[in-house]
Amino acid sequence: TGFTADRLLLFGATGDLSKRMLLPSLCALDAEGLLDPRIRIVGTARSDLDDAAFRNFAREALEQFLPADRRGGMATFLNRLSYQPLDASQTEGFDDLAAKVGEPSEGLAIFLSTAPSLFEPTIRGLKASGLAGEKVRIGLEKPLGTDLASSRTINDAVASAFPEERIFRIDHYLGKETVQNLLALRFANALFEPLWNAAHIDHVQITVAETVGLESRVAYYDDSGALRDMVQNHMLQLLALVAMEPPVRYEATEVRDEKVKVLRSLRPVGPEEVVTGQYRSGAIAGKAVPGYDDELGKNSDTETFVAIKAHLDCWRWKGVPFYLRTGKRLPRRTTEIIIQFKPIPHSIFSGRGARTVPNRLVIGIQPSEDIQLTLMAKVPGLDRDGLRLRPVPLDIAMAGAFSGPQRRIAYERLLLDLIEGDQTLFVRRDEVEAQWDWVDKIRGLWGEQGQEPRTYTAGSWGPSAAIALAERNGVTWHE
Ligand code: BG6
Repeated sequence: TGFTADRLLLFGATGDLSKRMLLPSLCALDAEGLLDPRIRIVGTARSDLDDAAFRNFAREALEQFLPADRRGGMATFLNRLSYQPLDASQTEGFDDLAAKVGEPSEGLAIFLSTAPSLFEPTIRGLKASGLAGEKVRIGLEKPLGTDLASSRTINDAVASAFPEERIFRIDHYLGKETVQNLLALRFANALFEPLWNAAHIDHVQITVAETVGLESRVAYYDDSGALRDMVQNHMLQLLALVAMEPPVRYEATEVRDEKVKVLRSLRPVGPEEVVTGQYRSGAIAGKAVPGYDDELGKNSDTETFVAIKAHLDCWRWKGVPFYLRTGKRLPRRTTEIIIQFKPIPHSIFSGRGARTVPNRLVIGIQPSEDIQLTLMAKVPGLDRDGLRLRPVPLDIAMAGAFSGPQRRIAYERLLLDLIEGDQTLFVRRDEVEAQWDWVDKIRGLWGEQGQEPRTYTAGSWGPSAAIALAERNGVTWHE
């Protein structure tokens, strides 16, 4: 599938994702000279716009969401855009759309960022209008279904028009530089890998904390909840990257083969191993915020927080719990991975100040990328009572180590790879299905038990039961 797309067709072009992420990313790529100079971008959505109105829409989006110093190529970029209105639930408009896209010199990349209900009719329309040929690849934005069965239906529909090598399922966490850096940390250093297993690691924590609440996605979020919105995709992908065996090469098949093995080794979670929560009114950074029900305008039992103690049934991770937690309206926005090493086997030091704390590797994914390794050190001084010891951090702030744009939009990487045809950072069908399978079992458990989320105050770290979930095993969540 070695072609570079010189046409890009964006479904959902006037939507939120397009405005905040896709158009700004494409413009940034263009400004850096990374797009094929021939590229033409056609937007489509239901809104009845013409080319000029869409360019205006795009200009406003760029001014709002792309930093001024990255907008250099804006005029050239806007000239590449055109627009064709389409109701994708109807078959009629697709021929006009195909005419607008025209004949690419090399190939076409399609990006679907639409409601899940539109996936199937869209695929049908693409097939019927000749927009699914050999020189076409397709990118799919989540949500790809709401459970294993519906995700299979979508995957089958897409597979009826495109082979897996031309299907690019997005998990935008894989587009984050910091997430890719996990692979560099693990596989470009000799230091960690020999210790990266059950013999040396006590447990792993993965936290994805957000301060935002419902935002503008009321209907979607209330149907989805934290487990399906964040754990099924982003957190399981992070877990797979942390836990996988070394792939033989950094290439799509090799990397994804290793990730899917991890996902398939996830043990079904027991009732005692998961805690859900929903926020009540509270305050974040000194600002009062309403509760979930108030934001929603009705009662709901959707979880806005979930904590899980997960296990992998495999040699490397036997007996090592992976604690996952994510939630809305938590005190800080932070995504981090904690690798907690085991205690030293025997201490040669005695005396009051000689207690050792096990080493801990903290991998900060966002907002700032800091990698911190806690080591024990001697406190300087002439103590009579033996050595005094204290943990000190060995700290790497990535921002200080490199120059260049510090914050890229995850979609820059992903759109470039879609256009050029590199699947390494996209999710393969067997991965998505393994993810859903595990998540469906958790939801099945909730169904049986009629579990209602516990409440937590906005601005806190979730329900106290989530703290107890870790503390029962002598573990404290990293803060
Ligand atoms: C999205 C979820 O996939 O990821 C949102 O639907 C969430 O609910 C977002 O806010 C978080 O992404 P990021 O890149 O801000 O961590």
